[in-house]
Amino acid sequence: MSETERPGRPVPGLVVRGVEIFPGLLDSAAQAGIMAEIAAVMSAAPPVQPETRFGRKMSVRMTSAGKYGWVSDRRGYRYETRHPSGVAWPPIPAPVLTLWHRVTGLARAPDCCLVNLYRDGAKMGLHQDRDEADFSWPILSVSLGDEARFRIGDVTRGGPTESLWLKSGDVLAMRGPARLVHHGIDRVRGGSSTMIEGGGRINLTLRVVD
Ligand code: SIN
Ligand code: FE2
Repeated sequence: MSETERPGRPVPGLVVRGVEIFPGLLDSAAQAGIMAEIAAVMSAAPPVQPETRFGRKMSVRMTSAGKYGWVSDRRGYRYETRHPSGVAWPPIPAPVLTLWHRVTGLARAPDCCLVNLYRDGAKMGLHQDRDEADFSWPILSVSLGDEARFRIGDVTRGGPTESLWLKSGDVLAMRGPARLVHHGIDRVRGGSSTMIEGGGRINLTLRVVD
């Protein structure tokens, strides 16, 4: 990362294993504004249920906005410049970019906004985000819709973990020594929010890719 961070970033309300958590950073109007933009992203580039390299369907549905989208199929995990259908990824919505610049303090924009849609008992196993070229850039994660139990481990595999409930409007940053912590979603509390049409939870993950 070749940039100095600008001052005036919000102060995290909570830090768990180095992960900075900003509970309720987005009020309901801000959440609704972002949600409307993400609904448009999802209609241009519909979420798909990716397969792993081993041919197992993930329970989460995914799409992306930005220069790159994160995809997984029999060929493995990677970033692609197009949705599996061949359409270009829609641009990252302006209010999402504004949030990124405000919380990270960076002038550099993210390359990817991964959109994870959790419905029908979807969850996500513990993993690291490590398909990016430079781990010195932070990751920003935004929760919308139903509450989810977020689990945080260590940078190394195994060992103890901690978990907390993420609510709609919560934002978190994985940066510095916490950039590569293991993390996942144990479960989503279905029906705990009415933010998303059709129900469920949406997580946006913003990353610099190259
Ligand atoms: C992810 O790590 O890709 C998703 C995390 C979340 O859904 O909060
Ligand atoms: Fe992740």
